[in-house]
Amino acid sequence: METIEKIEKLKKERKEIIEGSSKKRPIDTYIDKETSQISNIYHTIVTDIKEETKDVKTFTLTADKDSPTPHLAPFKAGEYITIHVTVKSSPVTRAYSLSSSPSLANKDIYKITIKRVENGLVSNYMLDEIKVGDKLDVSKPAGNFGYNPIRDEENVIAIAGGSGITPFMSLAYAILEGTYNCNLTVFYSVRTYEDIIFKSEIEEINKKKKNVKFVITLTREEKEGYLNGHLTKEMLEPFIKEFNTVLMCGPKELYRSMNDILNEFNIPRKSVHYENFFVEYEPAEKTTYKLKVVMKDKVEEITCKNDETLLVAMERAGIKAPSLCRVGECGYCRSILLDGKVKMIGASLKKAEAENDYIHPCVSFPDSDIVLRLDI
Ligand code: FES
Repeated sequence: METIEKIEKLKKERKEIIEGSSKKRPIDTYIDKETSQISNIYHTIVTDIKEETKDVKTFTLTADKDSPTPHLAPFKAGEYITIHVTVKSSPVTRAYSLSSSPSLANKDIYKITIKRVENGLVSNYMLDEIKVGDKLDVSKPAGNFGYNPIRDEENVIAIAGGSGITPFMSLAYAILEGTYNCNLTVFYSVRTYEDIIFKSEIEEINKKKKNVKFVITLTREEKEGYLNGHLTKEMLEPFIKEFNTVLMCGPKELYRSMNDILNEFNIPRKSVHYENFFVEYEPAEKTTYKLKVVMKDKVEEITCKNDETLLVAMERAGIKAPSLCRVGECGYCRSILLDGKVKMIGASLKKAEAENDYIHPCVSFPDSDIVLRLDI
């Protein structure tokens, strides 16, 4: 559809939504009493925990009505929140895609779905330690991933691997509730039947036979009613139209194999969008460097391995370094490299930032001893 036509259609839809909404959204920031700074942290309470599979849980977070943030900000399907927790005396953050319907934010509810990662500091803490009634601080929703009605086509193919299904559940709800007017087919690749997250929700949605459909393939098991094996061109073919938008969320092996298949359909690169939630770097030789962190009223000297980011090293040492997305996108962790060399993976700096020695510690791996200035 032509962009002008799309904009007109969207304007009309938005007007209808605004006119039909009597609820006024709350102010989503407050002044933190301790720091006297504007805070974007929301105080929530865990009001439900659902075991999705043996290593995945969905946490329902409801705004803490007795806190300075009795309401939660609205969000767009595909956005994430960052949770702030203290694990083994270290303040750490992790970003998780919101898995709930964006309309639940009007009731001051967010849901996040977390998969246990082997040796994962935060995922193991969340799955093993957090109980209903616990309080959890989270950042306001952010991110650029998801369906964009101006940019995207009406035929949307989503490709999810494992826990990469979470943003697409949110998108499925948004479409079914009428927020977007598009057709969504979610190809969900998962090892076995027992590993399917949101099993009952997916069955319910498929039963509706509306403009959202899930197609599940089991890569390590054969079962009636499910596709078997990794995603192939033949599996996708019936759902590909003349114009398509492809959204992908999952492990990077999935991205690689899917790119080859998408090329066979001649889907242009600009129509394929990826959620980026991992930063990896394999140095030729492993070593450990010194990292001196200069803060407003103190200096700390710690160590940093060359296969871990400066942010991870600081968190391990108990330094409360700022972070949100942890993948070089939001710029929240931006700090000044006073001395040394880093390898920054998958993030780009604006010219002015680079000229002033800014780096993003969340995606920076040390390549020498480092002196870093943190704005805390
Ligand atoms: S935390 Fe977002 S760029 Fe580093």
